[in-house]
Amino acid sequence: MRNLLDTRTLSREDAIGILDVAEDMADTQRREVKKLPTLRGKTVVNLFFEDSTRTRISFEAAAKRLSADVINFSAKGSSVSKGESLQDTAQTLQAMGADAVVIRHGASGAPRTLATSGWITAGVVNAGDGTHEHPTQALLDAFTMRKRRFGSDSRGRDLAGVRVTIVGDILHSRVARSNVWLLTTLGAEVTLVAPATLVPQDVSAWPVTVVYDLDEAIAAGPDVLMMLRIQLERMNAAYFPTEREYSRRWGLDAGRLHTLGPDSIVMHPGPMNRGLEISADAADSPRSTVLEQVANGVSVRMAVLYLLLAGSDPRDEKGDAR
Ligand code: CP
Repeated sequence: MRNLLDTRTLSREDAIGILDVAEDMADTQRREVKKLPTLRGKTVVNLFFEDSTRTRISFEAAAKRLSADVINFSAKGSSVSKGESLQDTAQTLQAMGADAVVIRHGASGAPRTLATSGWITAGVVNAGDGTHEHPTQALLDAFTMRKRRFGSDSRGRDLAGVRVTIVGDILHSRVARSNVWLLTTLGAEVTLVAPATLVPQDVSAWPVTVVYDLDEAIAAGPDVLMMLRIQLERMNAAYFPTEREYSRRWGLDAGRLHTLGPDSIVMHPGPMNRGLEISADAADSPRSTVLEQVANGVSVRMAVLYLLLAGSDPRDEKGDAR
């Protein structure tokens, strides 16, 4: 794998391959093998132009657990405030020896520009670009769903027939877009639920069902209910109901939580607006996979960095059959 820019162009086989390598990485973590020597001598740069807790820290943890060196760059406090361009910033970091650049940027397409411009030779991983995509979030979400469904028998499996309902601010959500492409590639049936003003205009071209009523969507019996963060910071152009109205009509509260089927799980990519899109009862309930998703994120990002920088499937090195 040269770069990971999106899930839209990821094949079923490549997606399952990444998830299977992530299973191997999770196994090493479970066996308390804290560090693998695999990426010794490699340098991973975390190039973050937008805030992050989970993604930046889990890429850092993933790189360190593979023995890579990590350079963390945050646009805040950097020479970006003096007007330095993306090209000059990236080339400066490449000159310090970057083998992989993990980039989060407010502009949709910035990771692709970095990967295709010829500015740098390092592999590029999209850690979230504008409203476009967040591929490693979708991969860790798919990993979590597969693990919940198949347990230790997950390897080689897709998500055929899994019914996933994604609720909330679809318009601004790169997490929703990456999940729609990846989950449908893996065979899941995806339903989107949102106020009409938070549904993208081009949604008719997406392989999804759209409904506007959360109770109707829950009554249909989803296996997975994925609540999205309301992105108040990106809400300027879109009509947003009052927070009270949003919470009443599209929020997951204790009442709705109890109407879910016995095996349904509740997901959220974080950070959560508790009391807005999800209540504390729902976020902290045994159905919630929020912290499981965070833990799985490290294994998935280890797999992505491994496949980017070591270039082969670790099971091939061990002689395991695929
Ligand atoms: N889910 C996610 O991308 O979280 P962060 O913004 O904290 O990285």
